Formats: sequence, C-alpha cells, structure tokens
Amino acid sequence: MTTIRFPPSLQRLSCLCYEHRMAILKVARLGHPVLRKATAPVSLREIQAPSFQKLIDDMIETMNEYDGVGLAADQVHESKQIAVLEVAANARYPDKPKVPLTVLINPKILPLTEEMEEDWEGCLSIPELRGRVPRYKSIRVQALDRNGQDLEFIAADFHARVIQHEWDHLNGKVYLDRMGDLSTLTFLTEFARYWLKS
Ligand code: NI
Repeated sequence: MTTIRFPPSLQRLSCLCYEHRMAILKVARLGHPVLRKATAPVSLREIQAPSFQKLIDDMIETMNEYDGVGLAADQVHESKQIAVLEVAANARYPDKPKVPLTVLINPKILPLTEEMEEDWEGCLSIPELRGRVPRYKSIRVQALDRNGQDLEFIAADFHARVIQHEWDHLNGKVYLDRMGDLSTLTFLTEFARYWLKS
C-alpha cells in the first residue's frame, strides 16, 4: 500500500475546494414520512463539524435554487432542528419585504400577541399550491446561529410568518394543517388567474 503525500499548500487547497463545493439537495415532497416527524435538537459539538456547516451551505443553496424564502432541514431529509430563511428579490414572492439571510438552530418561538393575520403561503414540499394561512403577527425568536451563538430577536408580519412556517416543519407540520379550512387552496395557475390582485 502506498500513500501519496501532497505538499501542505496543496492539502490546504484540496480541503478548501471540498468545503466550498455546495450542492443542491433533493427536496422531500408531501407524503414522505420525514416531513411528519419532529426533528431532533442539534448539539454545540455537532454545529462545529465541517459536515454540519456544509449541510447549512447546501440548504441555503437549495433554498435559493428553488426561489424559496425558507427551508427546514427535514425538507432535505435531515431530521434536525435547522431552518434557513432569506427574503431577497424573490420571483415567488415579489411583493414581500426583505429579510436578511438567517440560520436558526434549535429555534423556539413565543407569540407576542394573540392577533393572527391571514395571508398566502406556499411550500417547496407541496409544489404548485398556495393557500391562506392564519399566523401570529408578532413573535419572539430564540435560537442558535450557525456558529452556536445565542440569537434572540422579534419578528413581525411576513418575517414572523416565514419563521412560523419553518418552525412548523421542524415539528412535523405543514401549512395545510394550519389552514382554517381548505377553501382557498389553489394551484399557482389559478392563483394568478383568480386570486392575484393587480
Ligand atoms: Ni414549507
């Protein structure tokens, strides 16, 4: 057996290449049992692993690829309490306020008001559909960031909606479970034709 030894500079280079090779992950669709299972909390030790950091990068890449505004780890078949979210210029949600790229690990949310607001939601795991979902208007969020640091902030309106949607995923729920009834459930083509107000 022979061992090929690279000079240290090349070893570093190959390591960097590996770490920065991001991947678009396969998204689980409704019916896959992983979406209905509560996800497991993540330990501080696990957060430090390069493979864990790569999973987060891949989740961000996957969310961007499919024009999502949020993605939970169980949607990419990893039953762990991780969610990523970002609302930039987004083709699926063109009229929504911006939300910076955020990584939430082991998130907890607390409603700050009993006031609920209804608005449209879609989900990468439930393609082609939209429905109106009531959500708390304002919430306090506690989580760890991708470096394991404590994160605490208040989110309102669409920002709060996205976080509640992802938090539901981490608890095995999808937005259909939160709809008062299914009468507004609509395919995207019909959404554009009958529901989208100009
Ligand atoms: Ni979703």
